[in-house]
Amino acid sequence: MALTFLSVSNLPLLNLTAQFQQAYGYRPTVIARAPGRVEFIGNHTDYNGGAVLGAAIDRYVTVAAAPNAMGHFRLHSTSGAKPMDLAAVPAGRLTGADSWANYPLGVWRSIGDFKLPQPAGFDLLVDSDLPGGAGLSSSAALELSTALAFLELAGAAPLAPERLAALGRHAENDYVGVPCGILDQGTSAFGRAGQLVHIDCRGPKFSRVPLPAGTHLWIFNTKEKHALIDGLYATRHRECLSAAQTLGVALLADLTPAQLDKIGAPGGRALPPKIARRAKHIVEEHARVHDTVEALQRGDLATVGRLLTASHRSSQHLFENSTPGLDRLVDLLEKHPAVYGARLTGGGFGGAVMALAGDAFTAADAEAIAAQSGSHPEIIHLLSADGAAVVWKG
Ligand code: GLA
Repeated sequence: MALTFLSVSNLPLLNLTAQFQQAYGYRPTVIARAPGRVEFIGNHTDYNGGAVLGAAIDRYVTVAAAPNAMGHFRLHSTSGAKPMDLAAVPAGRLTGADSWANYPLGVWRSIGDFKLPQPAGFDLLVDSDLPGGAGLSSSAALELSTALAFLELAGAAPLAPERLAALGRHAENDYVGVPCGILDQGTSAFGRAGQLVHIDCRGPKFSRVPLPAGTHLWIFNTKEKHALIDGLYATRHRECLSAAQTLGVALLADLTPAQLDKIGAPGGRALPPKIARRAKHIVEEHARVHDTVEALQRGDLATVGRLLTASHRSSQHLFENSTPGLDRLVDLLEKHPAVYGARLTGGGFGGAVMALAGDAFTAADAEAIAAQSGSHPEIIHLLSADGAAVVWKG
């Protein structure tokens, strides 16, 4: 999920320290940062027990923090989001202009749920150069960077990336209220420059697959954001779980496409037509992730590209989480000879299209496609990056 309150500046660490000093009157003791992620393939497969491939990207949420001697919880953001000073962490969810604090406060509570040491109070400054509304997971990046900073403030031992990802997801599920899977937090925790993160979400089990040389990730961010995006995500989540229950499996990824065709394909009698379309998307998408890993390993980029675009068409027609703006971008990108494939990335219902392109694809090509699309997308040429880390200690 994306956070729109975050700014688009990436302040160097010194500048962030100066901003912290301005906000709180003294210097921070820790700076941590976590990357956003691009969903390479595996759309809505994560909470269905399926597989996903993601890449951590060179856009980050960076937080500076220090212990608060009064035991208060103070929060500032360089984006100008409403600063807060709380004497205690509230039990319920905050709403309106305060709602951005649910992420750091949810992380603080999750640290307690995970039986790890919590700082008794903190002063926090959040900065980000991740574009909001692009489906690049600013929320997971905020969760992981604050978790690392808070654990450092409390003097906790370094956390394994599996636990860090689980903690961030727990904060999002239980304290923000979005029933997301492990894709965003897992990719931000396990990212490595030049690699894709492969997650078998059932374990979850994490591994990495090299991104072939000479390939580039381009983002076309429509900045469209459906007003009901969180509600639509939760609806898809419910639809998938109900399909699995009717078909007698724990999670949809337990079924192969052939098994689904036998018992629950669209047009059959087992599932209502809409639910059958959702199930078909998940089961086939899970298989596409597997096929993509194999194609990457043998360097077959044409097949990788076909699978990416097939994933988009499945989102468009079966999972119905695309938009006309995203479809138009994929239609244009698909025709470009230097583009292997393109698809919506992330939850959908707006956001961005990701294209996998070769060296021959230029910024001018990207601009020409953006101009033809009519949706004035923001263009970002992304680099894959390393995962979440503490980057400075005072
Ligand atoms: C959002 C969620 C992820 C995943 C994707 C869709 O990014 O946070 O857990 O479900 O949507 O694949």
